[in-house]
Amino acid sequence: VRPLVIAVDGPAAAGKGTLSRRLAGYYGLAYLDTGTLYRGVGWLMMHRNLDPRNAEEAAATAQGFSLDLVADADIRTGDVGKAASVVAVQPAVRAALLQYQRDFAARPPKGTQGAILDGRDIGTVVCPDATVKLYVTASDEARAERRWRDLTLGEPGLSLSQVLEDIRRRDARDSSRAEAPLRPAPGAHLLDTTSLSIDAAFAAARRVIDRAL
Ligand code: C5P
Repeated sequence: VRPLVIAVDGPAAAGKGTLSRRLAGYYGLAYLDTGTLYRGVGWLMMHRNLDPRNAEEAAATAQGFSLDLVADADIRTGDVGKAASVVAVQPAVRAALLQYQRDFAARPPKGTQGAILDGRDIGTVVCPDATVKLYVTASDEARAERRWRDLTLGEPGLSLSQVLEDIRRRDARDSSRAEAPLRPAPGAHLLDTTSLSIDAAFAAARRVIDRAL
């Protein structure tokens, strides 16, 4: 039997991570936040004083990348998110990170029923044959406010308008790149969480998934 694979895509701070973690627990799936890989490469470059826009250095960093290298790093900051979206434009970076993601989906750990991956190109590129594809969105303002709440714990001076601007810039970069741009995969189910609580979004996603099982 093919393992169950759930692909979750969408723009920054749409609630993909929270939703995916809950779905993973509910359906007994292994969870991979693929943004961690791009953030990891971005963080490593910053840490090594390399310019994330440098295509060759970004490719080399991605080729030598493993999650252990960033195990204790703080990759959840706005700066690292920005660096991630800059390195994510490079086809060689995406190619270097692709196999790890595909292996994770194809060979989920023992004791799990399958895998759930979230990111920008899971349904379109990484797992085009996923059992279920979700495209999770919310208004720019709702996403900025959620991200701002998370970030101000660690970055107290941060303003909501700055976060909104960063999110819009990052979405524009993710949607306009030539390689694996952010967009709903064919057959993806749209889930707009603007006015949904976490519980309501979880229930809506379960309805979609249960229909597909
Ligand atoms: O989801 P997160 O905000 O952690 O992702 C950081 C950045 O990594 C995104 O803005 C995007 O540029 C890149 N990314 C990607 N493809 C993925 C996951 C993340 O290009 N599958």
